[in-house]
Amino acid sequence: MKLSNFLVYITSLLWLNLTDAKICYFWHITDLHYDPFHNSPEFHRGCRHNRGNTEHSHRNGRHRDHTCDSSYSLIQSAAAFMAERHPDTLEFVLWTGDILSSSMEHLDGEFKLEAVRNVTDVLSRTFSSQFVFPALGHSDPPPSRRLVDMWMQWLPTEALQTFEKGGYYTIEQSHSKLRIVVLNSVLWAGGQTRTDGATQGKAQWEWLEQVLSTARRKNEMVYLVAHAGPGVEERHNAGSSSSTGGGELTPTANARLLFVVRAFSDVIAGQFYGHRHADTFRLIYSEGRPVSWALLAPSLTPRGAGSISNPGLRLYKFDSKTGKVLDYTQYYLDVTKGEMHWAVEYNLTQYYGLRDVSAASLDALAEKIRHHHDRGIFAKYLSALRVRHSTDISDCDAACTHVHFCAITRADYHEFRSCVRNPASALASRAPHNSAAILLYAILILISS
Ligand SMILES: *[C@@H]1O[C@H](CO)[C@@H](O)[C@H](O)[C@H]1NC(C)=O
Ligand SMILES: *[C@@H]1O[C@H](CO)[C@@H](O)[C@H](O)[C@H]1NC(C)=O
Ligand SMILES: [Zn+2]
Repeated sequence: MKLSNFLVYITSLLWLNLTDAKICYFWHITDLHYDPFHNSPEFHRGCRHNRGNTEHSHRNGRHRDHTCDSSYSLIQSAAAFMAERHPDTLEFVLWTGDILSSSMEHLDGEFKLEAVRNVTDVLSRTFSSQFVFPALGHSDPPPSRRLVDMWMQWLPTEALQTFEKGGYYTIEQSHSKLRIVVLNSVLWAGGQTRTDGATQGKAQWEWLEQVLSTARRKNEMVYLVAHAGPGVEERHNAGSSSSTGGGELTPTANARLLFVVRAFSDVIAGQFYGHRHADTFRLIYSEGRPVSWALLAPSLTPRGAGSISNPGLRLYKFDSKTGKVLDYTQYYLDVTKGEMHWAVEYNLTQYYGLRDVSAASLDALAEKIRHHHDRGIFAKYLSALRVRHSTDISDCDAACTHVHFCAITRADYHEFRSCVRNPASALASRAPHNSAAILLYAILILISS
């Protein structure tokens, strides 16, 4: 440990001892995928099922159909539930993108903005005295003056300036040492169409590294927030090359983000992402040690990417003085039930028996998940991944379990693939070494400068 790091460490220990924790909460909601045509019999474009099979959709009721994106009434029911659950110490709301149904992709921009406005209105009525911090997903309109006008109720002037240019911003909490950094992952994803995409993507890297350096100097802790985070989609990408479409980070961007997270793991108190429509987590290692965690919240829409899940909402508990995440409660709505009834699905620390929410504890959990003979913990993981839509794990054999383990512990695309291909070597080396990633990053820097 360097002397400066050591001093920071001692100072933070003293800080913790001298000040009492201030327990507060924040919601994390993601992938609402609002479908305005949900109830319209001619359209129901957000539904993937066979259009001829009307009996099925009528029987299940449209808003409860797993093959459909969110109806306005599903969004309203989620909002009403969150309003009712409001702890007094709710500090803010993270809203990580994919606001609109992917079925609206080809509709005109004006209509999409109207839909975003309607969802924004629901949230601003629900959270009349809190700030909502939105991150853009790949199905959302690009940053514009119009979005700025909609969201200026939540974002300070400085944040609006970077948001309007690139869709990213940072929020400094005045009463604490916590800084929220909201990234626009679309700028680092494959297949984006913006003409100034590359320039903006580069600007976002420089901005991020500068914000993190400043945070370190000022002794702040940072939450990294974005629609898509690092790592692979375990359910469809098993062993194949990383996905390029659908808002995934490019291999280059993924490697660079991992490098930045490793370099600033002392400053990053947590990473919060959506996008996968799955409840899961990712671990980032440095020299074999787990140094950072990312928690991925499940979607509000029941429509998955090739799989289905129940709608989910997540309430985090944290110490607002230090930014330390203490726990979360995952809520869900069982779509097979008649009523729109939201219930507790589980509490993180209790569910998995974690001592705390830390990279070390989550690494120990990943180890348990890997051990195929302990099916109990894996069954819990898989049930959570699908937001309790199915608790049957018989469709996931040893090889499938291993893919899940690789996805959790190998956020680097290459390391994921070799982990999947070679279960024996994954067993041998407990955590990946990232010398290859560092080399790759060095090459990237050389190329880009
Ligand atoms: C937005 O809300 C207005 C007022 O309720 C409604 O008339 C309109 O159809 C909605 N549009 C969309 C796209 O949701
Ligand atoms: C989970 O946490 C919430 C909020 O702290 C609490 O109200 C609830 O009782 C807990 N549920 C369980 C099953 O422990
Ligand atoms: Zn999505």
